[in-house]
Amino acid sequence: MHTTAASTSPTTLQSRKVQFDWAAVPLHWIPGQPLASHVLSQLHMMLPIGEFWFCKLYNQALPLITDAKLAEDVKAFIKQEAMHARAHQGAATGYLGAHGIETQSFIDRVRWLFEQGPLSDQPWGRVMPKWLYRHWLVFRLGMVAAIEHSTSSVGQYVLRNRRWDEVGADPTVLDLLRWHCAEEIEHRCVAFDLYRHLGGRYGTRWLQKLIWIPAFLLVYAQGTSHILSQDPAFGGRKPSALSPWFWLQWHRAAKAGFIPPIGWFVKEELRYLSWTYSPLEEANTQEALDYMAKSAAVTAQLG
Ligand SMILES: [Fe+2]
Ligand SMILES: [Fe+2]
Repeated sequence: MHTTAASTSPTTLQSRKVQFDWAAVPLHWIPGQPLASHVLSQLHMMLPIGEFWFCKLYNQALPLITDAKLAEDVKAFIKQEAMHARAHQGAATGYLGAHGIETQSFIDRVRWLFEQGPLSDQPWGRVMPKWLYRHWLVFRLGMVAAIEHSTSSVGQYVLRNRRWDEVGADPTVLDLLRWHCAEEIEHRCVAFDLYRHLGGRYGTRWLQKLIWIPAFLLVYAQGTSHILSQDPAFGGRKPSALSPWFWLQWHRAAKAGFIPPIGWFVKEELRYLSWTYSPLEEANTQEALDYMAKSAAVTAQLG
C-alpha cells in the first residue's frame, strides 16, 4: 500500500485493455425484462460522453498537481475512463445499432451539455478570464467527484447483483458492466482526492451533488425512453422523463431485482454530503480486483 497526503487510493491503479464481441447479444439481453435491459443499455449512450469529458478535464488538471502519487493515479484514471468509453461505444453500435436502435441523436444532445452547454470550457461560447477559469475547472472536477461517488456505489450494486445471472442474462453485457464497475471501485478515490488537492471545498460538494442527482435521473430517463420508443415490444410508447408510466415500470423492474430502486439510489447519493465522507470507506477494492481476475474480457487480453 502506498498512499500520500494527497492520494488515498490504496493500490497502484492498473490500465487494462479489453475487447468484446457483440454479435450474439440480444436486444433484451436480460431475458423477459425489456425495460431493465434498456435501462442498463442506456449507459452505452450516456457514459462515453461523460467519460471523455472526465479525461479532458483531467488532462487540464494534471499540470496543477503537486503530488507524484496523485499524478500517477490521475494518469491511470484517464486511461481507465478512456477504455470504458470505447467499450461502451462498441456496445452502442455493436448490439443496439445491430438491432436497429438509433443512438446518435440522443448522444449528440447529451454531448452538447459537455461541449457547448453548461459543463463546457466556455459555456454558451463565453470566454473566461484565466483567474476565473481555474475556479471553473475545480468546480467541474467537483462535479466529477460527485459523479464518481455514484459510479462506485452503483458499481458495488452491479458487482453483487446475482439476479441477472439467475435468469440467464447475456454474459458479454454482464462482463462489460462488471469489469467497468470493478474499475470504478478500484479508482473511486481519485476524483475526490484531486478535487480536494486543488482546493475544492466541502460546501460546494452539496451544490455539485444536488445538481447531479436530478440532472442524472432526468437525462437517464430520457435516454432509456429513447431506446424503448424504438422497441416494438413497447408498442410505440414514447414516455417523457416525467411520465408516471415510465417510473412505474422502473419500480416494477427494481422490485423484481433487475435494476436499482430510485429510493436506494438517492439514499446512497446523500452519503456524499456527510462531513466525514471518504470514498475509501465506500466499497471494497479486493472485491473489485477479484472480479477483474476472472473477467473474460480482461483475462482474454492477458493471453
Ligand atoms: Fe468509467
Ligand atoms: Fe470512474
